[in-house]
Amino acid sequence: MIPQDFLQQLLDRTDIVAVVEQYVPLKKAGANYQSRCPFHNEKSPSFSVSPTKQFYHCFGCGAHGTAITFLMEHAGMPFVEAVSVLSGRVGMQVPDDGSRRPPEEESRRERMFERMEAASNWYRKNLKGCEKAVEYLKLRGLSGETAARFGIGYAPEGWQGLREALAAGIADYADPLLVEIGLVISQEDKRYDRFRDRVMFPIRNERGQTIAFGGRVLGHGEPKYLNSPETPLFHKGRELYGLHEHRRAIQGDNRVVVVEGYMDVVMLDQYGVQNAVATLGTAITADQATRLLRLAEDVVFAFDGDNAGRKAAWRALENSLPQIQDGKRLSFLFLPEGEDPDSYVRAQGADAFRTLCGTAAPLSDFLFAELTAQTDLGSQEGQVRLAKLMEPHLEKLGQAPLLKRALQQRLAGLTGLEAPRGNQRVAPNRYPTRPSGRAAVQNSSWQIALQAVLHDPVRATRMGELPHSERPEALALATLIALLREHPELSARDLVERFRGREEQTALEQAAAGLLAWDESYDVEADFQGALNTLAAQAGRAQARELSGRRPSELTPEEKFRLLASLQRRKAPSG
Ligand code: UTP
Ligand code: MN
Repeated sequence: MIPQDFLQQLLDRTDIVAVVEQYVPLKKAGANYQSRCPFHNEKSPSFSVSPTKQFYHCFGCGAHGTAITFLMEHAGMPFVEAVSVLSGRVGMQVPDDGSRRPPEEESRRERMFERMEAASNWYRKNLKGCEKAVEYLKLRGLSGETAARFGIGYAPEGWQGLREALAAGIADYADPLLVEIGLVISQEDKRYDRFRDRVMFPIRNERGQTIAFGGRVLGHGEPKYLNSPETPLFHKGRELYGLHEHRRAIQGDNRVVVVEGYMDVVMLDQYGVQNAVATLGTAITADQATRLLRLAEDVVFAFDGDNAGRKAAWRALENSLPQIQDGKRLSFLFLPEGEDPDSYVRAQGADAFRTLCGTAAPLSDFLFAELTAQTDLGSQEGQVRLAKLMEPHLEKLGQAPLLKRALQQRLAGLTGLEAPRGNQRVAPNRYPTRPSGRAAVQNSSWQIALQAVLHDPVRATRMGELPHSERPEALALATLIALLREHPELSARDLVERFRGREEQTALEQAAAGLLAWDESYDVEADFQGALNTLAAQAGRAQARELSGRRPSELTPEEKFRLLASLQRRKAPSG
């Protein structure tokens, strides 16, 4: 951990505008600076940087944060590196007091990368000398050029090939790190290479560092692909194969095609389709969906046309719903029976594949098709069932209120059941990032209070008793108030940094991002007062419920008084 005081001083001396400007051309627009968003592809600028608040926020994709976040998300730097780059700019020395991630650990990671790199180079070198591996890849139609672009290699047959490969000053074969990064298996007192006699696909992170491998057997054999296990460098559910190689093309096309296999990505690339990435043998996770939706407005999931493919598509849909924002397009493509993108592009060519992608079913069609298949719309019971089945999915569309409304209308058309009116409100413009939906509209007092306190932290001193709530904004507000009691001097920007890595981080960042959307005429104070009154009344009611549930003999005189007062308040006309 880097001490909070240091981060605060660092951010005090850093100008987020200057930092962002190194990567993105900014234009002054009113109090803020604007540009087209560097986190997603767009035609008109919705990315905004505030010199007074020292935040950035994109109204299109929802990206937001401080100068530190920007370097992490845009330049792909780990937290410690982002802090050290910013420190360098302003001539500060990152304190080395042992409380941050210890330097041994930092260099441990570096040593892990070094070993991965050395192994990858060695696998590549081996491919050139191995006739049967070259033959196999040729048979599959892979060119040497493509193989080189993706760093494809070959792990030879012996049990301890890496011993020699790493001997040149990199590592001893007994080095425990080799086991930790999944290159070597240690069993009883034997040690041996995980990957033997396989074609090796290096899996790289966005920065191009090798973090894992997928190894394919030549021809037939089990398992067909052997992958690195989860390691400190590699988390399957987070990575996308091909992202490093294809990021630019994806941003240029504003479309990303998500396929199932390594070979699909590689072969599509060879034929000129350079906007594909693959998951790593798992269902698409929420994390991956978020990354994909940031990269491009148009996300096409391509699946095999079999039963497994449909299942995988459904999982992808479920994990993506909460991440979609209005204006994004998600669609689902099912390849003809027995084909995958690799075989398809080889047989039909790139243009045919692109055309096929254009025919992908929009998320809404896929969702309705799957659910109506489970119901009989000819009967009223069936119509009700469809509405019931649809409900949990629509609820997940917190970030896409317009899409949600469109789907509700389509559902109403099919079932004759009107959506409840209160559900159809769209969040007011002032809070473009606030999810709409019943809960949010009714309980926005939390969000208003949270934003008002962030806007002017002095307000924390005016917060009275709050009702109990597990809502993320409520938890964030409670933490915020506690923090401000101890450190009343913190600004909104410092507060956001202090929440990094905490559970409440997202709620707080969303609230902070909302501040940027306020126009000057917005009367924060009035809304804040209103929110305080609502919350105080809720707290009072909850307390009265609790007190009136106890026996009078159990109440202290003070509690009796409070109960009485709340009962009287309840009788008053305004409640
Ligand atoms: P597929 O079975 O569709 O293979 O697995 P593929 O990509 O078409 O492979 P080729 O064309 O036969 O070489 C899709 C993905 O699932 C993961 C891999 O990531 C693979 O690319 N997978 C598959 C495994 O991890 N292990 C396996 O044994 C099989
Ligand atoms: Mn295949």
